[in-house]
Amino acid sequence: MSALTASPAWQALQAHADALRGTHLRALFAADPQRGERLALQAEGITLDYSKHRITDETLRLLQALATQAGLRARIDAMFAGERINVTEHRAVLHVALRAPRGADIRVDGVNVVPEVHQVLDRMAAFAEQVRSGAWRGHTGQRIRNIVNIGIGGSDLGPVMAYEALRHYSARELRLRFVSNVDGTDFAEAVQDLDAAETLFIVSSKTFTTLETMTNAHSARDWALAGLGGDPAAVAKHFVAVSTNAPAVSAFGIHTDNMFGFWDWVGGRYSMDSAIGLSTMLAIGPAQFSEMLAGFHAMDAHFRTAPFERNLPVLMGLLSLWYADFFDAQTLAVLPYDQYLKRFPAYLQQLTMESNGKHVTLDGQPVGVPTCPVVWGEPGTNGQHSFYQLIHQGTHLIPCDLIAFAQPLNPLGRHHDMLLANVLAQAEALAFGKTADEVRAEGTAEALVPHRVFEGNRPSSLLLLDKLTPAALGKLVALYEHSVFTQAAVWHINAFDQWGVELGKALAQRIIPELESPAALALAHDSSTNALIRRVRQMRGRP
Ligand code: F6P
Repeated sequence: MSALTASPAWQALQAHADALRGTHLRALFAADPQRGERLALQAEGITLDYSKHRITDETLRLLQALATQAGLRARIDAMFAGERINVTEHRAVLHVALRAPRGADIRVDGVNVVPEVHQVLDRMAAFAEQVRSGAWRGHTGQRIRNIVNIGIGGSDLGPVMAYEALRHYSARELRLRFVSNVDGTDFAEAVQDLDAAETLFIVSSKTFTTLETMTNAHSARDWALAGLGGDPAAVAKHFVAVSTNAPAVSAFGIHTDNMFGFWDWVGGRYSMDSAIGLSTMLAIGPAQFSEMLAGFHAMDAHFRTAPFERNLPVLMGLLSLWYADFFDAQTLAVLPYDQYLKRFPAYLQQLTMESNGKHVTLDGQPVGVPTCPVVWGEPGTNGQHSFYQLIHQGTHLIPCDLIAFAQPLNPLGRHHDMLLANVLAQAEALAFGKTADEVRAEGTAEALVPHRVFEGNRPSSLLLLDKLTPAALGKLVALYEHSVFTQAAVWHINAFDQWGVELGKALAQRIIPELESPAALALAHDSSTNALIRRVRQMRGRP
């Protein structure tokens, strides 16, 4: 038994969960005609319907007691106060400062970081205006029409998600592309129809050492110079960098005048609203980028000040933990009913799983309970014609986050009512299902009845917003960021390091020369890896 599972709040929840496990959502709704009205929370323009969760008022009380026992309030205060809560890297965690309004005061080691944040935002805005207006010209005098962001992980997923999400608001005359994979195909396909004279590369990398990004950046420089007559001076007009590592940016050949900085207190997966969002700002313009930041900030303020029982991220975080730890749910499906949010689940995969995919506590002890669920998803209604079968009738319990917007951005006949009808129908079907008697009453042959029964009792949250705007996107992302934080506080884990990505990186560095060497090298891996290296070498015509 771990310290967490032995704690009074955990024990109380465990007993409560065991008692509630056999209760169906049908019974919970039948017992309380007001449940649907009551178990809904509205804040910052987001309505969270959490009535279709396998919870009672007592569950909520006990989950909040768990958060209190875990010291969540003090953890929130510590983050906003700039304390070095990323203990394994000895860093503050201040993505909330990235969207603090001008004039706010958020300190790291006694220094207010907000003025620096706005200095960079102002430089980004000036640059974005130049590019968008055509004042910024390429080496041959042509205006920039193509922007290629080169980055990976947090330096890619946020930018690409935000671009897709806010495409409706983007300058359509600019073509944005995103290159992340070290697979040469990614770069080759991204530039195959582009003219180097009209193309600007943003090399986005916090460290400026990441293998994939630096490899792609070098290939981009070769490609650009080849298309621009080979003059190295061309780099200045076609490459900018977003990084915390000025020396490495200079060494690459990008002048630091063309570098937009951020700070070690911004984690990669929490950086889409830092200079890493330069591609987003180029696409939607500085004013709408500011609206997005204001949305983030509104959710930050809500998270910081709202009591736990009326706190959206706290509630979402605790509900996710409820299923992961007390119902053996191993995954969480995020199902946006908005085509513009098609990359949102992929974005959340890094945010949630790189943050909370941890097995030890802040003090290095085993957590003792399952931590972050596997997050996955696709936009509705596409998922309905694919994997929803398993959610409705499979043997796994899969809590779902359904996300919908009342207003369409592209009104088209009856499309939007149909879309909304589908999301509401799915939540209803998941919760209430269809009993054998209901199936029989439809005249179904007895042999088919079990096949057509929907057990129901599948929990879901419905997040309903008015319209997908830049501010709404900021609120949604901050909501999930703080939900992740809430869960990490209860599990007493560090959501801000990612040591788990290191081993594979180091092994790859060792294997690269073993694949590339003209002569066979002595191999000292396990017999499987050795054999695979030999096979690959053979297939590539190497001894
Ligand atoms: O995959 C590990 C990681 O460090 C992520 O946390 C980060 O977002 C990504 O690599 C990219 O890192 P960088 O921005 O330094 O290139």
